[in-house]
Amino acid sequence: MQVHQYDVVIVGAGGAGMRAAIESGQRARTAVLTKLYPTRSHTGAAQGGMCAALANVEEDNWEWHTFDTVKGGDYLVDQDAAEVMAKEAIDAVLDLEKMGLPFNRTPEGKIDQRRFGGHTRDHGKSPVRRSCYAADRTGHMILQTLYQNCVKHGVEFYNEFYVLDLAMTEVDGVRRPAGVVAYELATGEIHLFQAKSVVFATGGVGKVFKTTSNAHTLTGDGMAVAYNRGIPLEDMEFFQFHPTGLAGLGILLSEAARGEGAILRNSDGERFMERYAPTIKDLAPRDIVARSMANEVREGRGCGPNKDYVLLDLTHLEPAHIDAKLPDITEFARTYLGVEPYTEPVPVFPTAHYAMGGIPTNIGAEVLADNDNVIPGLYAAGEVACVSVHGSNRLGTNSLLDINVFGKRAGIAAAEYSKTADFVELPEAAENDTVALLEKMRTSDGTERIGAIRKDLQELMDANVQVFRTDETLREALDEIAKLRERYNNVGIQDRGKRFNLDLLEAVELNFLLELAEVISVAAIHRKESRGGHFREDFPDRDDEGFMHHTMTYLDPDSETDGIKGMRLETKPVIVTRYQPMERKY
Ligand code: FUM
Repeated sequence: MQVHQYDVVIVGAGGAGMRAAIESGQRARTAVLTKLYPTRSHTGAAQGGMCAALANVEEDNWEWHTFDTVKGGDYLVDQDAAEVMAKEAIDAVLDLEKMGLPFNRTPEGKIDQRRFGGHTRDHGKSPVRRSCYAADRTGHMILQTLYQNCVKHGVEFYNEFYVLDLAMTEVDGVRRPAGVVAYELATGEIHLFQAKSVVFATGGVGKVFKTTSNAHTLTGDGMAVAYNRGIPLEDMEFFQFHPTGLAGLGILLSEAARGEGAILRNSDGERFMERYAPTIKDLAPRDIVARSMANEVREGRGCGPNKDYVLLDLTHLEPAHIDAKLPDITEFARTYLGVEPYTEPVPVFPTAHYAMGGIPTNIGAEVLADNDNVIPGLYAAGEVACVSVHGSNRLGTNSLLDINVFGKRAGIAAAEYSKTADFVELPEAAENDTVALLEKMRTSDGTERIGAIRKDLQELMDANVQVFRTDETLREALDEIAKLRERYNNVGIQDRGKRFNLDLLEAVELNFLLELAEVISVAAIHRKESRGGHFREDFPDRDDEGFMHHTMTYLDPDSETDGIKGMRLETKPVIVTRYQPMERKY
């Protein structure tokens, strides 16, 4: 086993991890550990833009942006965090511009901006052009730009190193990270990385669902590793279903299409969003649009042979405009559905897109051990984290912003902390749990297959924990997950080798997915109200008296919640600074 020592170890090389690395790498000896080659990270799949109130094309300001974020998140947003994000958005975009990101430009040469759902002028009066973009490949451009700048600053990457454990040591009664345990895919070797500070930036957990815009690798690794070390997970019941996944496939078709003027229609050809959100229509926040689409299908106004999708109509847009602003997604429609968007509407339906919950942090990106205390030296940013700027529903383009603002904050804070702190002694045999887990998997004679269990889990989550939820569907999900976990105990992998053993990797990922599916379902059972992305048909209204709080889920061997042994749920107050909860009309 190899042992390495760095001031700062960053886990994950998507946008948040690399934005952190650019800051940390200039201040302290920094390593980035990533299970993928950095430019294959999922940030590269983000399409439509990154918002900031630059006011380049029409009047705007960061206060309107803050308000939209809070209202979009159905008032579960921590408002201090939303304010930080909206204020720092402007510099975050300019930082990227200076690093070389090729944004689309106005005729005068300013960064161009376009509309996106829930972003409005003057507290909801009309949609505003706030999203800065590079055609419909903004995430791809951000990822490439950040990687080039990491290389420029000499950041050290450990590519295809899969972090499976966080080593924690108690110092003077306070738990602190001592480092991480990683599995090198190329060799099957275990590496120990000792570090003064650790940043988690491992992304989301979309693969818990079958229909998802997320890549195969989005298996909630960082969330599960933290949870298994006693760190709570916040607001896991809130999952975002992006309205426009390609029907039957879930591949993302950017909201930028609607930002550029595309319209959703039902089988009667009706622009149905006029009924659900009369002011901003197709540009309402995603939870509202996704629910409206699902409702149209439920009430029999779906399209196609099975009446199970609606249509995204771009046919009134000029082909030259489509080619300039939406080249990738229109190509996806041609390639995957054989539809020509110039002349035919595109079949779409909601797709699991984004986890609003995650590892709790404060606005300094410091990880919280509980409601009141931070874990010194441990940071998280991006989708793995819950700061919480998205509350119960994230606005489109706020995630590319989140990774840049809080990635930068995490990188600076981790490096500064490392200058003041000593290394913490690694726990004895810190790698033991990981070695034992991998050996058990590699040598198991179990007859269950990973692919079969994963498929059953994903179909279960699509059926029971999707846009519409009830106590019954959620409890059924929990019962079935328990059975899947039993089957998992009898899993056997076919590849027994050490080199590039992806079978082994997927077995570990599946365990994380099962654990997190349970956390999501239990938190969803407990929230007996509807808010943002969490819609309970049995409790269809928002209940501020009963539920205006965050959910904190802890792994706790002494507790039992809803029949799940070892889980404890607590609440955490929402930080409200200037916007009291109001009725959410659009
Ligand atoms: O629709 C999109 O382009 C996705 C953007 C986002 O999730 O922020």
